Amino acid sequence: MTLELVEYIAWRKKEINAVIMAHYYQIPEIQDIADFVGDSLQLARQAAATDADVIVLCGVKFMAESAKILSPEKTVLLPDLRAGCPMADMVTAEALREMKAQYPDAAVVCYVNSSADVKAESDICCTSSNAVNVVKSIPEERQIIFVPDKNLGAYVQEQTGRKMILWEGYCPVHDVLTREELARQVEMHPDAKIVVHPECVPEITQAADAVRSTGGMLQYVKSSPDKEFIIGTEEGFVYTLQKNFPEKTFYLARPEFRCYDMKYLDLEKLANALDRMEHQVEISEEIRRRAYGALQNMLSIMP
Ligand code: 13P
Ligand code: SF4
Repeated sequence: MTLELVEYIAWRKKEINAVIMAHYYQIPEIQDIADFVGDSLQLARQAAATDADVIVLCGVKFMAESAKILSPEKTVLLPDLRAGCPMADMVTAEALREMKAQYPDAAVVCYVNSSADVKAESDICCTSSNAVNVVKSIPEERQIIFVPDKNLGAYVQEQTGRKMILWEGYCPVHDVLTREELARQVEMHPDAKIVVHPECVPEITQAADAVRSTGGMLQYVKSSPDKEFIIGTEEGFVYTLQKNFPEKTFYLARPEFRCYDMKYLDLEKLANALDRMEHQVEISEEIRRRAYGALQNMLSIMP
């Protein structure tokens, strides 16, 4: 059955000239079948550059929307419409407009984990891999509203020394990792380096040896002479790490570290999406154009 599905996906992909892009949090079968696996920034860059007619985004809604914003002439498919991001839902365009009215001169920096509507209200986007550089690119004297992740925002504040107006959003998957849980892992694996995502709370990022996006973690592990790592991000990524570095050992920072939105998809759903050309992402041209400006401003800055 699985072999049939794999063969069908490969055949159908060619038939419609599709490219399958997956985020590192996807299940192993999806990561293995994808043409490209990456973090949010890498996926956005690939979406902007691909010459395929159809982009199948195996990730969550904001990633598929970013692909559509950057490549409006392409058909972008999100195979399961339930795949959202609770953090992205913590800010709406209307609430952001109200905040902007309070600080009319402030620049709005918007984490890509946000809707197209929110991006359209923003000056520049960032991902977890380039947030520090994006904030540094804004003139010192200008106030900054940072949405929606208060943890990433706090980390960027620490790194840049810039005080920002932080939205009260957070990732429910990363935010719950506690110092006690991390300490338990350190006790069990005293030689392991601690590598965490900047969506974790400040007391976790401050205790880590490295704070990186998922793509940044891969680079860190690659260039590190160390053999063991405690990983503070979603469990799907441990598969990626183990696959790339079979000689190294990875421990999850807490026993359950799962983003359920990233787990709706399997091979059967992917095959169905290709078969039925579902679900096509649509964004009004007015919103897309404004959101494009914020994404393009980000992409013009080195990560
Ligand atoms: P990355 O861009 O680091 O892959 O992060 C995406 C994300 O949703 C983290 O929760
Ligand atoms: Fe959103 Fe968190 Fe899931 Fe990433 S891990 S997609 S930020 S809920």
